[in-house]
Amino acid sequence: MSVDYDIRVAAIDDLGGARAVMLDALYRDFGTGYVPRWHEDVIDLAGHYLTPARHTLLVAVDEQSVIVATAALDSRGPRQPEWLAERYPRGETAQLRRVYVRPEHRRRGLARSLVTELLEFARADAGYRSVYLHAYRHSPGALDLWRTLGKVVWEDEDGVVHFEIA
Ligand SMILES: CC(C)(COP(=O)(O)OP(=O)(O)OC[C@H]1O[C@@H](n2cnc3c(N)ncnc32)[C@H](O)[C@@H]1OP(=O)(O)O)[C@@H](O)C(=O)NCCC(=O)NCCS
Repeated sequence: MSVDYDIRVAAIDDLGGARAVMLDALYRDFGTGYVPRWHEDVIDLAGHYLTPARHTLLVAVDEQSVIVATAALDSRGPRQPEWLAERYPRGETAQLRRVYVRPEHRRRGLARSLVTELLEFARADAGYRSVYLHAYRHSPGALDLWRTLGKVVWEDEDGVVHFEIA
């Protein structure tokens, strides 16, 4: 089935739908559920992604105006270990976050399109020198997606795989 999607920068009215996509991914794909120390941005999406000019949140909307995917970017960079934080410093590193697509809309190019727009956003900001993200080895489709877009920098002992995106 061919579906037309609209990709746009999230507005305040989109945040409820975006949060629902994210929370469903945390519970159903990752199995962790909401963990405050890891996922506080999901609760305060406006504060993390709409207010800071160097951050952004994109949503993909289907033909029924339902938000079916999200993708975000911020400038926080990895906090640890020290060598990784030095290689991808806060403020100079665009970190891709919350790239989640609802299961029934996967393998239609949505993540690739969302990431392409995030990379354009990063490029337009003269302060970003690299693009980084981390993903969990067991996340459905995640490593396959990121391997098509970048290279593995490090895999830690907890199964977290760190990528630099070209
Ligand atoms: C990972 C995820 C975001 C991919 O979204 P998507 O819209 O289905 O990805 P795309 O259709 O843009 O795929 C782009 C390419 O990535 C690769 N890919 C994506 N999902 C894949 C999968 N399940 N198996 C194999 N390759 C996959 C393919 O090369 C694909 O190109 P192709 O379809 O032409 O072969 C989605 O599966 C998802 O939301 N998973 C759960 C949440 C998650 O893990 N997110 C990543 C957090 S870091």
